Amino acid sequence: MPPRKRKPAAPADAAARKRKPAARAICASKALAEGGRGVRFEAAYEHVTMPAFVIRFDGKAYGYMNRCMHVCYELDSGSGVFFDDDGLSLVCSAHGATFDPTNGLCNFGPCKGLSLIALDIEETGGKIYCKGVPEDG
Ligand code: FES
Repeated sequence: MPPRKRKPAAPADAAARKRKPAARAICASKALAEGGRGVRFEAAYEHVTMPAFVIRFDGKAYGYMNRCMHVCYELDSGSGVFFDDDGLSLVCSAHGATFDPTNGLCNFGPCKGLSLIALDIEETGGKIYCKGVPEDG
Protein backbone atom coordinates (compact mmCIF):
# COMPACT_ATOMS: atom_id res chain seq x y z
CA MET A 1 0.00 0.00 0.00
CA PRO A 2 1.49 3.36 -1.00
CA PRO A 3 2.00 5.87 1.78
CA ARG A 4 -0.88 8.21 2.27
CA LYS A 5 -0.25 11.66 1.07
CA ARG A 6 -0.83 14.35 3.54
CA LYS A 7 -3.27 17.01 2.56
CA PRO A 8 -1.30 20.25 2.25
CA ALA A 9 -2.15 22.87 4.83
CA ALA A 10 -4.22 25.73 3.53
CA PRO A 11 -1.99 28.67 2.72
CA ALA A 12 -2.31 31.59 5.07
CA ASP A 13 -4.82 33.91 3.57
CA ALA A 14 -3.45 37.31 4.43
CA ALA A 15 -6.08 38.97 2.32
CA ALA A 16 -8.85 37.28 4.30
CA ARG A 17 -7.32 38.47 7.55
CA LYS A 18 -7.24 42.00 6.25
CA ARG A 19 -10.76 41.79 4.87
CA LYS A 20 -13.06 44.37 6.33
CA PRO A 21 -16.34 43.42 7.95
CA ALA A 22 -19.40 43.85 5.79
CA ALA A 23 -20.99 47.24 5.53
CA ARG A 24 -23.13 48.02 8.55
CA ALA A 25 -26.47 49.79 8.24
CA ILE A 26 -26.47 53.04 10.19
CA CYS A 27 -29.78 54.71 9.46
CA ALA A 28 -32.42 55.41 6.84
CA SER A 29 -31.40 57.90 4.16
CA LYS A 30 -34.26 60.19 5.15
CA ALA A 31 -32.75 60.50 8.65
CA LEU A 32 -30.05 62.76 7.19
CA ALA A 33 -31.30 66.18 6.18
CA GLU A 34 -29.09 68.42 4.05
CA GLY A 35 -26.84 70.36 6.44
CA GLY A 36 -28.96 69.12 9.34
CA ARG A 37 -28.41 67.01 12.39
CA GLY A 38 -26.11 64.05 12.09
CA VAL A 39 -26.66 60.50 13.20
CA ARG A 40 -24.29 59.26 15.87
CA PHE A 41 -23.09 55.68 15.97
CA GLU A 42 -19.97 53.75 16.90
CA ALA A 43 -17.27 52.50 14.57
CA ALA A 44 -13.96 50.71 14.97
CA TYR A 45 -10.70 52.52 14.39
CA GLU A 46 -7.41 50.76 15.05
CA HIS A 47 -9.41 47.97 16.72
CA VAL A 48 -11.03 50.34 19.21
CA THR A 49 -14.73 51.19 19.09
CA MET A 50 -15.28 54.93 19.18
CA PRO A 51 -18.03 57.47 18.52
CA ALA A 52 -18.68 58.34 14.89
CA PHE A 53 -21.28 60.23 12.89
CA VAL A 54 -22.82 60.63 9.47
CA ILE A 55 -24.15 63.84 7.93
CA ARG A 56 -25.48 64.93 4.56
CA PHE A 57 -23.91 67.72 2.53
CA ASP A 58 -24.57 68.65 -1.08
CA GLY A 59 -26.79 65.61 -1.39
CA LYS A 60 -24.10 63.14 -0.33
CA ALA A 61 -23.67 61.29 2.95
CA TYR A 62 -20.31 61.63 4.70
CA GLY A 63 -19.09 59.98 7.85
CA TYR A 64 -16.27 60.67 10.29
CA MET A 65 -14.97 59.45 13.60
CA ASN A 66 -16.40 61.84 16.15
CA ARG A 67 -13.20 63.21 17.53
CA CYS A 68 -11.01 66.14 16.78
CA MET A 69 -7.37 65.43 16.04
CA HIS A 70 -6.02 68.14 18.37
CA VAL A 71 -7.86 66.96 21.49
CA CYS A 72 -9.81 63.73 21.79
CA TYR A 73 -13.14 65.50 21.92
CA GLU A 74 -16.53 64.80 20.32
CA LEU A 75 -17.38 67.62 17.92
CA ASP A 76 -21.06 67.77 18.85
CA SER A 77 -20.69 67.18 22.62
CA GLY A 78 -23.37 64.52 22.25
CA SER A 79 -26.05 66.77 20.72
CA GLY A 80 -26.06 65.44 17.14
CA VAL A 81 -25.51 69.01 15.88
CA PHE A 82 -22.41 68.94 13.68
CA PHE A 83 -23.01 71.84 11.29
CA ASP A 84 -22.62 75.54 11.88
CA ASP A 85 -25.68 77.80 11.59
CA ASP A 86 -25.22 78.11 7.82
CA GLY A 87 -25.06 74.35 7.32
CA LEU A 88 -21.86 74.78 5.32
CA SER A 89 -19.17 73.62 7.73
CA LEU A 90 -18.85 71.06 10.47
CA VAL A 91 -18.02 72.80 13.73
CA CYS A 92 -16.45 71.86 17.05
CA SER A 93 -18.97 72.78 19.73
CA ALA A 94 -16.20 73.44 22.25
CA HIS A 95 -13.73 75.53 20.25
CA GLY A 96 -15.58 76.78 17.17
CA ALA A 97 -13.15 75.15 14.77
CA THR A 98 -14.67 74.50 11.36
CA PHE A 99 -14.20 71.52 9.06
CA ASP A 100 -14.95 70.92 5.40
CA PRO A 101 -17.86 68.44 5.38
CA THR A 102 -16.62 66.80 2.18
CA ASN A 103 -13.19 65.76 3.46
CA GLY A 104 -13.01 66.58 7.19
CA LEU A 105 -10.17 69.07 6.80
CA CYS A 106 -10.08 71.72 9.54
CA ASN A 107 -9.91 75.16 7.90
CA PHE A 108 -10.21 77.31 11.00
CA GLY A 109 -9.36 76.82 14.67
CA PRO A 110 -6.77 75.13 16.85
CA CYS A 111 -6.63 72.04 14.64
CA LYS A 112 -6.27 73.94 11.35
CA GLY A 113 -4.64 71.72 8.73
CA LEU A 114 -5.58 68.47 10.48
CA SER A 115 -8.41 66.26 9.27
CA LEU A 116 -11.14 64.26 10.88
CA ILE A 117 -10.85 60.53 10.29
CA ALA A 118 -13.12 59.79 7.33
CA LEU A 119 -15.33 56.73 7.12
CA ASP A 120 -16.26 54.82 4.00
CA ILE A 121 -19.97 55.59 3.68
CA GLU A 122 -22.33 54.15 1.12
CA GLU A 123 -25.93 55.07 0.45
CA THR A 124 -28.09 52.52 -1.31
CA GLY A 125 -31.67 51.28 -1.18
CA GLY A 126 -32.75 54.13 1.08
CA LYS A 127 -30.18 53.34 3.76
CA ILE A 128 -26.80 54.63 4.89
CA TYR A 129 -24.07 52.05 5.41
CA CYS A 130 -20.66 52.35 7.00
CA LYS A 131 -17.78 50.22 5.72
CA GLY A 132 -15.29 51.47 8.31
CA VAL A 133 -12.16 53.56 7.97
CA PRO A 134 -10.70 53.00 4.49
CA GLU A 135 -7.05 52.62 5.51
CA ASP A 136 -7.67 51.01 8.90
CA GLY A 137 -6.22 47.52 9.15
S1 FES B 1 -11.43 69.63 19.99
FE1 FES B 1 -10.24 70.34 18.32
S2 FES B 1 -11.24 72.16 17.74
FE2 FES B 1 -12.40 71.49 19.43
